Amino acid sequence: MYRIGEQELGRLRRLFESGRIFRYGQGCECDRFERDWARHSGTRYCRMTRSGTSALYTALVGLGVGPGDQVIVPSYTYMATALAVLSAGAIPVIADVDESLTLSAADVERRLTEYTRAIIPVHMVGLPCDMDGIMDLARRRDLLVLEDACQAVGGGYAGKALGGIGHAGAFSFNFFKNMTCGEGGAFVTSDERTYQRGSVAVDCCSFYWNPDEKREDLQFAGHNYRGSEVEGAILNVQLKRIDKMLATMREHKKELLQVGLDAGLQSVRNNSLDYECGTHLGFLFGSEAAARTFSQGLREAGVGSFLPMDTGRHVYTRWDPIMRYQGAHHPALDPFKIAANRKARVRYTEGMCQASLDILNRAVLVPMHPNNRRSRVRQMARAIRTAATA
Ligand SMILES: Cc1ncc(COP(=O)(O)O)c(C=O)c1O
Repeated sequence: MYRIGEQELGRLRRLFESGRIFRYGQGCECDRFERDWARHSGTRYCRMTRSGTSALYTALVGLGVGPGDQVIVPSYTYMATALAVLSAGAIPVIADVDESLTLSAADVERRLTEYTRAIIPVHMVGLPCDMDGIMDLARRRDLLVLEDACQAVGGGYAGKALGGIGHAGAFSFNFFKNMTCGEGGAFVTSDERTYQRGSVAVDCCSFYWNPDEKREDLQFAGHNYRGSEVEGAILNVQLKRIDKMLATMREHKKELLQVGLDAGLQSVRNNSLDYECGTHLGFLFGSEAAARTFSQGLREAGVGSFLPMDTGRHVYTRWDPIMRYQGAHHPALDPFKIAANRKARVRYTEGMCQASLDILNRAVLVPMHPNNRRSRVRQMARAIRTAATA
C-alpha cells in the first residue's frame, strides 16, 4: 500500500546527510524499528530481513525446523510460504482453507503425521486465521507455529497482534504491503534461542556484531539477509501511521459488509472483525458463475474486486516448483530428494485440496484503501447493492 510522503523524505534526507547508513556501529534506524516493531507485535525480539520470504526462512531456521520435518501450509498463500519450508530443508504439506479463506484447523489435524513439526497459518489478504483453533491444536500435538503475517502487517486477532501469537511471526514490507519500504521484512519471536538462531541465518556475521554471543549452538553458516538503515528509516515513519490506516479500512469494511448482508449476500467468515486489517471485504457465492457476475458488476461500477482463484501464484495448483518437486537448485540439496526426508516426503496432486478450490472459486474480494473518502465509500455501497441484485 504505497503511501510515502514528506515525512519519509525528510527522515531519509537526515539519514543521508548524517552519512550513517550502515546499521551496525553507525546508524540507529534498524535498532529503533526492531525495538518498536517487537513492542507493537507484543513480542520480545524482532530482526529485520531483506523480505518476507527471508523472514519466513530465517524464522524456520530459528525454530530449528529442518530435514526430516513436515511443515503444514495453507493451499491459499503466496508460494513463498511453501518455498521457505524447502529452503529450510523440510517438506511442505498443503492443507485446506475454510470459508474464512485461511487455514482450516480441522484439516490441519487430519493431515498431521509423526513427522509434522510446525504449522504456518497465513493471514491472507489481511484476514486473520482461526488462531484459537490452531494454537489449541499446536499445544495438544506439541507443534511449532510460525505465523505468516506478510499480508496482514499491523493487524490483530482477538486483541493480540498478528505475528505475535505463535512461536514466531514473519512480515513483508514489499511494495504491496500495509507498511512498505519497497522491499523488506522482519521476523518476531519472544523466544531468545529462536531469535539468536534466526539472527545467524539473517547475518552470517552475527557473532562479529554481537561479540558477547559465543554459544556453540549458534556456530553455523548463515547468510546476509539483513535490513538496511534506509529501510529502517522509512519503516519508522510508516509505523506511526499503521494503526490509524487499518482502523479507517476496518470501519469502511464493516460498513460495506453490512450493506452486502442487507442485500442478501453471504460474507466470507471473518475470524476477528474488530481487530483484523480491514484491507479486504469478502463475499461467498453459491457458484463460480454467480461470483464472477458479482465481481464483473462491481468492476463495471468502478469498484475493484477479484476472485482469490485468479491471483498469480497464490493457489497451490500454481506453485510450479512444488508441484514439479523442484526443491532446490541442486539435487544434492533438494529436500524432495535427500535421504533425511525419505519418510517425510508427500505426493502433491491438483485435487489434494479440492475443498479449497471450491471455496476460492466462489469468493469475491473487494479491496479497501485508507485514502477512500466518504463519497467513495458511498459509491462502493451503491455498487455492492446493484451488483448483489444482478
Ligand atoms: C502471504 C505471503 N507470504 C510471503 C510473502 C513473501 O514476501 P516478500 O515478497 O517480501 O518476499 C508474501 C509476499 O507477497 C506473501 O503475500
